[in-house]
Amino acid sequence: MKQSEARERIEKLRTEINDHNHRYYVLNQPEISDFEYDLLINELETLEKKFPGLITEDSPTRRIGSDVTKEFVQYEHKYPMLSLGNTYSEEEIREFDNRVRKAVNSEVEYVCELKFDGASISITYHNGLIQRAVTRGDGIKGDDVTPNIKTIRDIPVRIDKNIVPEEFVVRGEIILTRSVFDRLNEERAADGVQLFANPRNAAAGTLKLLDPKIVASRSLDCFFYFILGEDLPFDNHFDNMKLAFEWGFKVPDSIRLCRNIVEVMEFINHWDTARRNLPYDIDGVVIKVNSLTFQSELGYTAKSPRWAIAFKFKAERVSTRLLSVAFQVGRTGNITPVANLEPVLLAGTTVKRASLHNEDQINLLDLHINDTVFIEKGGEIIPKIVGVDLTNRANGSSKVNFISYCPECGTLLIKNEGEANHYCPNYLHCPPQIKGRIEHFVSRKAMDIDGLGEETVDLLFSKGLISNIADLYELKKENLVPLERLGEKSAANIIKSVNDSLNAPYHTVLFALGIRHVGETVAKTLAKKFRTIDELIAADAEQLTAVNEIGPKIAGSIIAYFEDEENKEIIRRLKSRGIRFSEGTTGSALSDKLNGRIIVISGVFNKHTRDEYKEIIEKNGGKNSSSISANTSFILAGENMGPAKKERALDLEVDIMNEEEFLKLIGEES
Ligand code: IVH
Repeated sequence: MKQSEARERIEKLRTEINDHNHRYYVLNQPEISDFEYDLLINELETLEKKFPGLITEDSPTRRIGSDVTKEFVQYEHKYPMLSLGNTYSEEEIREFDNRVRKAVNSEVEYVCELKFDGASISITYHNGLIQRAVTRGDGIKGDDVTPNIKTIRDIPVRIDKNIVPEEFVVRGEIILTRSVFDRLNEERAADGVQLFANPRNAAAGTLKLLDPKIVASRSLDCFFYFILGEDLPFDNHFDNMKLAFEWGFKVPDSIRLCRNIVEVMEFINHWDTARRNLPYDIDGVVIKVNSLTFQSELGYTAKSPRWAIAFKFKAERVSTRLLSVAFQVGRTGNITPVANLEPVLLAGTTVKRASLHNEDQINLLDLHINDTVFIEKGGEIIPKIVGVDLTNRANGSSKVNFISYCPECGTLLIKNEGEANHYCPNYLHCPPQIKGRIEHFVSRKAMDIDGLGEETVDLLFSKGLISNIADLYELKKENLVPLERLGEKSAANIIKSVNDSLNAPYHTVLFALGIRHVGETVAKTLAKKFRTIDELIAADAEQLTAVNEIGPKIAGSIIAYFEDEENKEIIRRLKSRGIRFSEGTTGSALSDKLNGRIIVISGVFNKHTRDEYKEIIEKNGGKNSSSISANTSFILAGENMGPAKKERALDLEVDIMNEEEFLKLIGEES
């Protein structure tokens, strides 16, 4: 490869890897498996080795991805949080052992541990008390998430100060067991909230919640694997970990002391299979030199210790036969192809289906019915087809073609220029789209109607009891009770909850209608400018776009919605049932104490959530803004106000008010 070609490829790889880092560490929404990520990093490392002139300090091979987010205060780690060199090959583990023994000129004991797949945390203890818990961040500094960490039962908040060093740091991995993860995603599905891709993302996302009460409800676990300090009790890792266990830290008993590399290999091979019986995910095994003296002799590279290495398990791959491809219609009309497979065992579960994403993916794989396909489960819940065994293709087998018409309602599908997905434009009468709108309407952030999850909506729809949102208000208990799976109690609950929803404020109703592009914020803006639904219906494009935040796209969608005869009829029926269609009849201002004040919220609060404070500000006549400017009246600051915000507030001499002072100001007893 020429230098110029290498430069181009290196740049492309760096952009791609940085993008994946952002998705993984910040958004907690990875797009590729760890294995695929490691392939990219490997390719980049190899190229940088070959062309050292092209190495830059900011290359992702020299930097650790960062999870830092702006809502938290950042703290510098006393000991940097490095990553681990990793490999998928036993050969490289042997090479690691050779290097280590040569460097210290002695036989070496290793400690083998499981590599937990979660989010890492570093906790400093002072006189036996938690002083601070910080995420890995970029390895140098991370986010202070102490209030969240204190909610985790596995983590001792206080240890007898007479038995521990005055100051020490423990590190571990915050994880969710698969069963807690499944329960969490079930709840999210019922609430119509985007699902977490895997337990790791769920754990990392939970750590960064601003409300410790929600963190507490998520049943996080923490496994400890590292202790650091100036005066640790033992000169070896294994005994220190055993002692940490006695102090109350959850050090899993899978930890093993191995006398040599043969025993290390036994450990790896054992867990490659046994991991399937664990209640949580691991993605490999970590091998550490036991002696702390040897550890410091071996030292560190810029990114990782030379005294440890991770052996990663390959995402399991099996082959099976493609039976057929089904096309599913989502809530918004999106069409997703799904492969039906001959059932096969993969990573402990029987797989019958795999996602195929879109037409491009099908063409890329050149998929034929009856093909032998390779499927893999990376970190994601849904396995995917990663290739086709072409040597096994039957003569004359037919190529998988994408469909042209909606499988649910027969409408001609549309694919917009530059987009990967097909969608069904029959917004009003395509059943999954109708059900999707009803599910959105009843979801927690919208009308918050209890007892109507996806399955119940499906049931009521199939029985002809509901075919739009207005029908919900005509449900009668006696229609519900005889339905299978419902019964007296659930039926009564649904009816009560539908009734309670009549109290939802006007802006919530606007959001719940599911008008395209009208999210929560736009709905609030609309409700403020157009005080009744009739004013909104009467507004033309010019009046709509005159409102801040409303552009032609949103305006067009609002107008189209209210022009539709069926929607008009639905609104008329909802109105006659008593749904709030004007500002002021409910959610009316509590006071005008904050009239004309622009308030920025920062930090974590005790009495209300941030969302509640936003509402309180608005209900008392104030306006919430996300950035500090000379116009800001004051900042409502909880614990852990972001340092950048603090600095800007001082610069602009904007007042900072704490939670208690604020509640006093608006007259709420604290
Ligand atoms: S030791 C300097 N041990 O893997 C070495 N890390 O890729 C510090 N991890 O950031 C790490 N299980 O989040 C160590 N038994 C274990 C681990 C483990 C999971 C994670 C940890 C670390 C990452 C490194």
